[in-house]
Amino acid sequence: MAERAAIVTGASSGIGLAIADMLGQEGYALTLAARRAEKLDAAVSGLREKGHDVHGVAANLTGEEEIRQVVSEHEQRHGRLDVLVNNAGVGFGAPVAEIQTRRLDMQLELNLRSIVIFYRECLPMLQAAAAEHRRALIINTSSISGKRGEPWLSVYSATKAGVVGWTEAMNKELGAQGIRSTALCPAFVDTPMTDFIKEHVKPEDMITSEDIAESVRMLLRLSPACQIPEIIFERPGGATL
Ligand SMILES: NC(=O)c1ccc[n+]([C@@H]2O[C@H](COP(=O)([O-])OP(=O)(O)OC[C@H]3O[C@@H](n4cnc5c(N)ncnc54)[C@H](OP(=O)(O)O)[C@@H]3O)[C@@H](O)[C@H]2O)c1
Repeated sequence: MAERAAIVTGASSGIGLAIADMLGQEGYALTLAARRAEKLDAAVSGLREKGHDVHGVAANLTGEEEIRQVVSEHEQRHGRLDVLVNNAGVGFGAPVAEIQTRRLDMQLELNLRSIVIFYRECLPMLQAAAAEHRRALIINTSSISGKRGEPWLSVYSATKAGVVGWTEAMNKELGAQGIRSTALCPAFVDTPMTDFIKEHVKPEDMITSEDIAESVRMLLRLSPACQIPEIIFERPGGATL
């Protein structure tokens, strides 16, 4: 059995892939989950080439059964969970009059509902890890738009604000058991998600996925007496996103 193990969702690119790579460097055995199998396989192969112990589970995490499948495959393989990274997310921009119900539901289901289900399904393994070393850690990728709502990204902003509220509640509910949660709230990060804006905001002016991963490495090293509920990542110069 691995000494430490982690699940990372939305790990086939961007922020999730960078966090998975960092966790591999730190010696964690990994289960990566993302929607498209081919893209996920490429990410898994890339991390294996770096020597990490990685298994991929292709799953659409808007579905409860698929979440259970990810957790169950992880448990069968590793029997423990020390770090859970709830990172998968989507955003659709639209003025309020044009919000499509299908897209509204998809953002609610992936960005918020899936996180609640992951906590519930992973709790026994996280409690066992916390009882062993008091350093069980859950990362929830929110957004700076979860701290200050953005026009035309209203649904996305609401789901990400929900992630911040959920994280606070979980720290009050589970923190004393040694299960700590942190919400990550970045402005624009240079990932495929921000391709739509790169004509206007240069990738080199964006936060990097590695910046985010380094913050998680820092969280892994905190003493059990210290909890960081959220981290806000801004771009210099006062840009809102
Ligand atoms: N980039 C930014 O500026 C920024 C800023 C703040 C917060 N965030 C948040 O950071 C997180 C990661 O985004 P990213 O920027 O790294 O974008 P990304 O590179 O597009 O990564 C998104 C990941 O989520 C997966 N995913 C999407 N829908 C899914 C579904 N239904 N089921 C399972 N997996 C799904 C994707 O897999 P597939 O490609 O196969 O769908 C991919 O692995 C998201 O929660 C996002 O809201 C991003």
